Amino acid sequence: TNVRQNRLSFTTDLEPAVRGADAVFIAVGTPSRRGDGHADLSFVYAASEKIAGALDGFTVVVNKSTVPVGTGDEVERIIRELRPDADFAVVSNPEFLREGAAIEDFKRPDRVVIGTDDSRAREVMSEIYRPLSLNQPPLVFVGRRTSELTKYAANAFLATKITFINEVADLCEKVGADVQDVARGIGLDNRIGGKFLHAGPGYGGSCFPKDTLALMKTGQDSGASLRIVETVVAVNDARKRAMARKVISALGGSVRGKRIALLGLAFKPNTDDMRDAPSLAIVASLAGDGAKVYAYDPESMEQARPLMPEVTFCEDPYSTAEGADALVIVTEWDAFRALDLDRVRSLLKQPIIVDLRNVYRPGDVRKRGFNYVSVGRR
Ligand code: UGA
Repeated sequence: TNVRQNRLSFTTDLEPAVRGADAVFIAVGTPSRRGDGHADLSFVYAASEKIAGALDGFTVVVNKSTVPVGTGDEVERIIRELRPDADFAVVSNPEFLREGAAIEDFKRPDRVVIGTDDSRAREVMSEIYRPLSLNQPPLVFVGRRTSELTKYAANAFLATKITFINEVADLCEKVGADVQDVARGIGLDNRIGGKFLHAGPGYGGSCFPKDTLALMKTGQDSGASLRIVETVVAVNDARKRAMARKVISALGGSVRGKRIALLGLAFKPNTDDMRDAPSLAIVASLAGDGAKVYAYDPESMEQARPLMPEVTFCEDPYSTAEGADALVIVTEWDAFRALDLDRVRSLLKQPIIVDLRNVYRPGDVRKRGFNYVSVGRR
């Protein structure tokens, strides 16, 4: 981006893009390193080396990738070593947008965190984000390491919130309470907030599982273990498997030879992303226990196919339900929120619905003759 000329240009070549730019954004992946859960920084470092070669005039190197604390220092060292003459500042500017809502989140951010001590970099970053708001864009200037940690702390906190309400849901089932009412009852307290209190089959996706693990590792390596985050990771892993047991118990304790219909495979609606999706653990457990699994997802079946060779993929929710012993809602796609329940009832072999996203109201479904199991509600 050339801020002063308000110009955005596209090129497949790195060098002309970096030359003369006011700011260069690094936005490459930082997947979990196989084996130890640390973030793999090889793409970030490779990008830094390439950028170093093309720097020309004062340039802000902005790191948007989710990286562990201290990565900005390392990027600075790499560039400085390759180009002792270069005039640059390395800034941390973490990304908080959600998959499937990225443009909306970008245009209306709750906050933009910028980590730098360099006043010239501060000025460039303020100018870049100025068009986002007519008044004052919600910029939060902090130190670079603080900014890097803020990203992980945000994701770990949200993952904790979800895991907390998931455990409360289990307790609700035991004591005859309703988790949705509890969530509303606590969420209206501004100090708690109502978002991310929707109980379900556990969080998945490309961010929470990877980032909680990386933060846990940073804590352990730094001698300040984050025991809450360690517990969240363990509880969430166990939960995905526990969801299959919920289905098994709805079917009287065994799924051997039974046909199970799964609606939704992606880790959340409006994406085809299968990374760490709860459906993976659910399918593995059910198929492992001898069930015949049939599934439908509006977007993710192509991605899911190679990951679940034991599953038969169907064309729509109704053909999935046909002849099944139970229908399981795994992802809350809009298409599954308003099913023709009477038609579903006529297609199923046994009228059992396991709703892992609490899409339906128990009374409505039971009235139609279903045996209905959901999460954290009687
Ligand atoms: C998440 C964060 O919400 C973004 O702010 C962040 O930028 C992004 O990670 C990232 O680090 O890149 P995302 O993974 O796209 O975004 O999806 P979310 O909408 O946060 O959902 C994550 C998981 O939590 C899903 O499996 C979802 O089903 C689950 N979830 C979410 C619940 O089970 N209950 C809730 O109340 C909310």
